[in-house]
Amino acid sequence: MSAIISIRDLAKTYGDGFTALKGVSLDIEEGEILALLGPNGAGKTTLISIICGLVTPSAGSVTVGGHDILTGYRAARAMIGLVPQEITIEPFEQVINTVRFSRGLFGKGSDEAHIERVLRALSLWDKRKSKNQALSGGMKRRVLIAKALSHEPRVLFLDEPTAGVDVTLRREMWELVRQLRSEGVTIILTTHYIEEAEEMADRIGVIDHGRLLLVEEKARLLHQLGRKELLLELTEPLPELPSSLAEFALQRSEDGLHLTYEFDAHAERTGMTRLLGAVAEAGLQLKDLTTRQSSLEDVFLKLVADGRDET
Ligand SMILES: Nc1ncnc2c1ncn2[C@@H]1O[C@H](COP(=O)(O)OP(=O)(O)OP(=O)(O)O)[C@@H](O)[C@H]1O
Ligand SMILES: [Mg+2]
Repeated sequence: MSAIISIRDLAKTYGDGFTALKGVSLDIEEGEILALLGPNGAGKTTLISIICGLVTPSAGSVTVGGHDILTGYRAARAMIGLVPQEITIEPFEQVINTVRFSRGLFGKGSDEAHIERVLRALSLWDKRKSKNQALSGGMKRRVLIAKALSHEPRVLFLDEPTAGVDVTLRREMWELVRQLRSEGVTIILTTHYIEEAEEMADRIGVIDHGRLLLVEEKARLLHQLGRKELLLELTEPLPELPSSLAEFALQRSEDGLHLTYEFDAHAERTGMTRLLGAVAEAGLQLKDLTTRQSSLEDVFLKLVADGRDET
């Protein structure tokens, strides 16, 4: 695989002195779906805006398809489609003209077949003659995507594409993203929805306070950091842990009715059998036994919390 976007030591301090990005380096592989996860104000939109040439970096460099975003701006920008976080479309323009115009902006000759394909893929064909202002919020968002795809970009940025979007449209967007990827488009999406990253992404990057805390293949991330918990529900409250169970580092719930044992699901020995033996030996009666795999959400929250501890 080769990188279609290379980001090196990118930093941004805004005019008011606020530093939104602190030395971000990242290679985005051609054809992948990369999800950038991060809380509000993490720097996701700033990062995307720099790559798309809307915000000037304070330090560092970015190339898109080998073109530097500053010295080769037009060539770099022509490869990119951007679906911005904020809805910005001309209210009185017709849907189809909005999309045609976008294509024209990139100096591409007209291609009605492509415009039709894009509008159909986004279920906007029937609305093509409508004025943008007459569309619902979700449809407006689709128009933004149609605009971004109008010039056949090789890289598509989706900045929170599914914020405020209903479940059906969200599913449709995911479907569309997959289809685009199968056509070779590289996709970078930002999201607050961990399930979205879990569902869509090949790789996941976590950003907080202007730093890229981690970039990892989704599967590996879940594997490496995935912990399992065994929850023991007792028939009677346990006032305190017997010393014979000390080695298992159990967490006792406040009411004394639950004990939680954390273990590495991939380890050869999970210690579960031994624990259950020790529990029986200590005379504890179990009412129920459940396991829980830590989700990407746990991983994410932990990372962000650890990242904050360090700064
Ligand atoms: N034009 C600007 N001038 C000054 N500060 C800015 C500007 N744009 C963004 N910031 C600040 O930079 C930080 C990062 O903002 P950014 O929009 O990149 O975050 P984000 O990760 O996209 O957040 P969200 O999830 O809310 O969209 C925030 O603290 C924001 O207030
Ligand atoms: Mg944002």
